[in-house]
Amino acid sequence: MNYYKNSCAAIAAILLLLLVASMSCSAQLSSSFYDNTCPNALSTIRTSIRRAVSRERRMAASLIRLHFHDCFVQGCDASILLEDAPSIVSERNAGPNRGSVRGYEVIDAAKSEVERICPGVVSCADILAVAARDASAAVGGPSWTVKLGRKDSTTASLTIAESDLPSFTDGVDRLISRFASKGLNARDMVALSGSHTIGQAQCFTFRERIYNNGSDIDAGFASTRRRRCPTSGQNDNLAALDLVTPNSFDNNYFKNLIQKKGLLPSDQVLFSGGSTDNIVSEYSRNPSTFKSDFASAMVKMGDIPHTGQDGIIRRICSAIN
Ligand code: HEM
Repeated sequence: MNYYKNSCAAIAAILLLLLVASMSCSAQLSSSFYDNTCPNALSTIRTSIRRAVSRERRMAASLIRLHFHDCFVQGCDASILLEDAPSIVSERNAGPNRGSVRGYEVIDAAKSEVERICPGVVSCADILAVAARDASAAVGGPSWTVKLGRKDSTTASLTIAESDLPSFTDGVDRLISRFASKGLNARDMVALSGSHTIGQAQCFTFRERIYNNGSDIDAGFASTRRRRCPTSGQNDNLAALDLVTPNSFDNNYFKNLIQKKGLLPSDQVLFSGGSTDNIVSEYSRNPSTFKSDFASAMVKMGDIPHTGQDGIIRRICSAIN
């Protein structure tokens, strides 16, 4: 009887150890992950991203957004890069992504350069995380140490992309709860939204805001933005998210919000009498706090764990091996 009890306890202890070990395996990322297996991975990615951003500066914005839209769906696992295939319904066609998310070919190019030096070693999910950091640094934004060791998914989820990515019509409470469900707090959410200091948005995302003549928009700003965004049609005409310094990563986005010059409805709700007003004010006064909070929040976002089946290292980012 005693023997039976002891062996049960031993088995239970082993199972517990295995569970803890497997949990920490999937969670443990480290900045030195490729130091032995691919020492030139990071410099190769950096060269590739710098080249892409110098060709087109907006690409920096697009790459930061690509990483964000990856991490919010099944965790940071490069699921967004998978194209339609017999077992894959691509996230690229989800509402928030289709005709909007860009930069896939830049990640493909970086991946093929890395594959040339270390075949089958570096995940697409890690390349996305490094690319976002290098993109920020390339346009005057902060840099940070990227944790590495993510695996690529063998699945994608169009459904989660539709349901979990934030919408430009969301109110502040909804935004806060969406980010909370990914382990990010309100301060992280506001800091990360600060990446709207670069990049562009299409007319259909801000049309309602510039024509509704509400009191939460600066009249001059609305009329400027109406020039290239008519009441109907030309849905994909572009406008800079930060009208003052659209090409540099600074804290003007927050200064704009205080002047009621946020472009998207979801930008202006961060400063409209709600709970995030004080964070916006702080970032508008203090660019270095914004930049260091942005860097920490990007690291935190990059830590959103991959859910679902065990991952792999994809040979090409758009398809499973
Ligand atoms: C808070 C909720 C957010 C909403 C509702 C939102 C929504 C949007 C929308 C509608 C656009 C314009 C897309 C288009 O017109 O094609 C956009 C652009 C962008 N978003 Fe967000 N976003 C949010 C948060 C974030 C976060 C957390 C990041 C990054 C960490 C981010 C980075 C960007 C960047 C850099 C662009 C410009 C992309 C480009 O020019 O290609 N956004 N966002």
